[in-house]
Amino acid sequence: MAVTSQTSKILTSKLTQQFVNLLSRTLSSEVTNLKDVLADKIPREQEKVKQFRKDFGQAKIGDVTVDMAYGGMRGIKGLVTETSVLDPEEGIRFRGLSIPECQEKLPKGKGGAEPLPEGLFWLLVTGDVPTDAQVAAISKEWANRADLPSHVVTMLNNFPANLHPMSQFSAAITALNSESKFAKAYSDGVHKTKYWEYVYEDSLDLIAKLPTVAATIYRNLYRDGSSIGTIDAQKDWSANFASMLGYSDPQFTELLRLYLTIHSDHEGGNVSAHTVHLVGSALSDPYLSFAAGMNGLAGPLHGLANQEVLVFLNKMKIALNEDFSRTKVEEFVKKTLASGQVVPGYGHAVLRKTDPRYTCQREFALKHLPDDKMFKLVAELYEIVPPILLETGKVKNPWPNVDAHSGVLLQHYGMMEMNYYTVLFGVSRALGTLASLIWDRALGLPLERPKSMSTDGLMKAVGAKH
Ligand SMILES: CC(C)(COP(=O)(O)OP(=O)(O)OC[C@H]1O[C@@H](n2cnc3c(N)ncnc32)[C@H](O)[C@@H]1OP(=O)(O)O)[C@@H](O)C(=O)NCCC(=O)NCCS
Repeated sequence: MAVTSQTSKILTSKLTQQFVNLLSRTLSSEVTNLKDVLADKIPREQEKVKQFRKDFGQAKIGDVTVDMAYGGMRGIKGLVTETSVLDPEEGIRFRGLSIPECQEKLPKGKGGAEPLPEGLFWLLVTGDVPTDAQVAAISKEWANRADLPSHVVTMLNNFPANLHPMSQFSAAITALNSESKFAKAYSDGVHKTKYWEYVYEDSLDLIAKLPTVAATIYRNLYRDGSSIGTIDAQKDWSANFASMLGYSDPQFTELLRLYLTIHSDHEGGNVSAHTVHLVGSALSDPYLSFAAGMNGLAGPLHGLANQEVLVFLNKMKIALNEDFSRTKVEEFVKKTLASGQVVPGYGHAVLRKTDPRYTCQREFALKHLPDDKMFKLVAELYEIVPPILLETGKVKNPWPNVDAHSGVLLQHYGMMEMNYYTVLFGVSRALGTLASLIWDRALGLPLERPKSMSTDGLMKAVGAKH
């Protein structure tokens, strides 16, 4: 078959592009410095977005109804988030990879089966599955950046014991902005094309310091202020965190690796991710932006639900005198609903199936603690709660979410302090929200400012009469 010169040109340019991609992939798998890999990728992504907007900037991606405006903006497509996408039926995909695929493909900790959160961070930032050497480089870098400035340690050590761990966490993160390289560079007049570099530095510093902050809070509140010890640069992020918290069981470290991986990101519209993105769009530095997101995570309809689940289970334990027969449990759940409260750990604003983050925790429990009494109760609730929620006729998703399971796993290994659980969620959420923040600045996304309307304005707009 004759090949026209036009076809030949297209083929050559396609082959050249494939070669460039292959070369770039090969090179980037040998580079262990994440910032260098990113610096290589950013210009190409900027160009891709620029061209896409030039060609399709006016293309429509949806309609907005009055109900959407009153209904918490559900379903409005108005945000760009590169790191992960949530499918209502299938659950989260991190840069295209499902949770089981991440468990299979990402590098594991020493002697463990669960992925290292460092690998997930690399994946979220670059879109590539990292090599063992790349993940080891991140572990080392985070260990080297983990120290806290003395004013933050003093502040943490002086908080009253009745201040919720999430408030302590958020306040300490805000105070860490004394260290912000972005804030300094901005006030020194840095060019906007370089913003991402300083956001990157702050993000890595902050992620590295979060376990130190979190462990200090834990020790102060629940372990008589005992020392968190020192960071070991040979250990991974989760292993250092477990040891600072005072846990030596390797299975707890495994759980922490899984926990910190799966709570990291849930696309861009959830309260914590959206808040970090929104506040970051004002060019508030990563510490201020992330602290704002943590205040959102501390709400009972969002991250605090993992604490609420344990409160709910303990209330049930006491009320039923540990008689977890089906009828008694059903009665308790119905009573909760009748009293105008939610069943924590169930339902979701986007998901319409069992959360794969719940499923992988259930699998962890089946493997490591199949006979745990509280796990059995959680498993029983999985059968009992959905039909009851469906009966109400209004709950859109009757299935369990991530928070329905995490607390009982932590309790199995001795972490009984349920008020603390959202802090662990927060440490993990840094991976996704800060990876996104780096890209927000790399792509030059502007100040976020959607249009709001008054009820009268809306009525007028749609021709409604009073
Ligand atoms: C997550 C959550 C806030 C999503 O809210 P949503 O998108 O508004 O959910 P829906 O559209 O299904 O809500 C419709 C109705 O069902 C109710 N509903 C949803 N989930 C419920 C639950 N687990 N228990 C009781 N009622 C629930 C809502 O409160 C709402 O009631 P209303 O119309 O009287 O106000 C909600 O499911 C919830 O409160 N779950 C419990 C808290 C939780 O687990 N949060 C962690 C989420 S990862």
